[in-house]
Amino acid sequence: MSRRKITVVGAGNVGATTAQRLAQMEMGDVVLVDIVEDMPQGKALDLEEAAPVLGYDSKVTGSNTYDESAGSDVVVITSGMPRKPGMSRDDLLKTNVAIVKSVTEQVAAKSPDCILIIVSNPLDAMTYVASKVSGFPRERVMGMAGILDSARLSAFIGMELDVSVENIHAFVLGGHGDSMVPSTRYTTVAGVPVEELIEKNRLEEIVQRTRDGGAEIVKLLKTGSAFYAPSAAVAEMVESIMKDKKKILPCAALCEGEYGIDGLFVGVPAKLGAGGVEKIFEIKLSDAESAALAVSAAAVKKLCAEVDEML
Ligand code: LAC
Repeated sequence: MSRRKITVVGAGNVGATTAQRLAQMEMGDVVLVDIVEDMPQGKALDLEEAAPVLGYDSKVTGSNTYDESAGSDVVVITSGMPRKPGMSRDDLLKTNVAIVKSVTEQVAAKSPDCILIIVSNPLDAMTYVASKVSGFPRERVMGMAGILDSARLSAFIGMELDVSVENIHAFVLGGHGDSMVPSTRYTTVAGVPVEELIEKNRLEEIVQRTRDGGAEIVKLLKTGSAFYAPSAAVAEMVESIMKDKKKILPCAALCEGEYGIDGLFVGVPAKLGAGGVEKIFEIKLSDAESAALAVSAAAVKKLCAEVDEML
């Protein structure tokens, strides 16, 4: 019996760190694809050489073509230009549409039954590109963002209250952009609503820091964007799918009427299992949250209209 296979396209910081996590978690054999000659092969070999120390048996293969990726169960697409300081995620649209389109075509040709997880930015629009180009059903295309944004909110609340991050359950909806919708109403600390623990103005500052979380890292790193937290978020999605855990995780899923959104990928709570996005949960939103989600969806819609002209 052959092992299950996960391909990670793009062997930059996000892709390579994702491959590292997945190999270490023994989620399956990992194929790392990148156009840069020898680089994915070098990183894959390095990961195989780490295996005896860390005790994992996942095989890691690096490649400049998609042949090795054939028959993957899950494919993670991280390809594209990262942001430079001062850029918004949306500034990347033109360049990354072309890259994600080409990658998706090649991935879908080799692994027509795979589940696609998109990480490239601007996230919601790139997930839309992958969906359109692959023609895969909505269960098998999703974007990683909500777990990352929620993790940032949890991390900042943990710092504020000096409590374990494991006690914090944060929820961020909407697009992975400046108009994302962190829901403090559904954010709890050991089951207690966070709104009872942190006063309103301070909580609003924490929410704003969450919205700016990606840019804060870009500004500090100066070259490239965040990768430790993004790769951890991808690994959680892959694990829920590969182990059919059916975790409810915020991720960019195709809404077809849910939350009044139709035909767009936006961050919503989704059940991830062996079938991919098995269900989108419609939680009850306050008027303010609904309005904020509508603004976020409108921003995604605008980008997707531009995408439609480029495809
Ligand atoms: C971030 C980028 C990767 O949020 O979107 O860090």
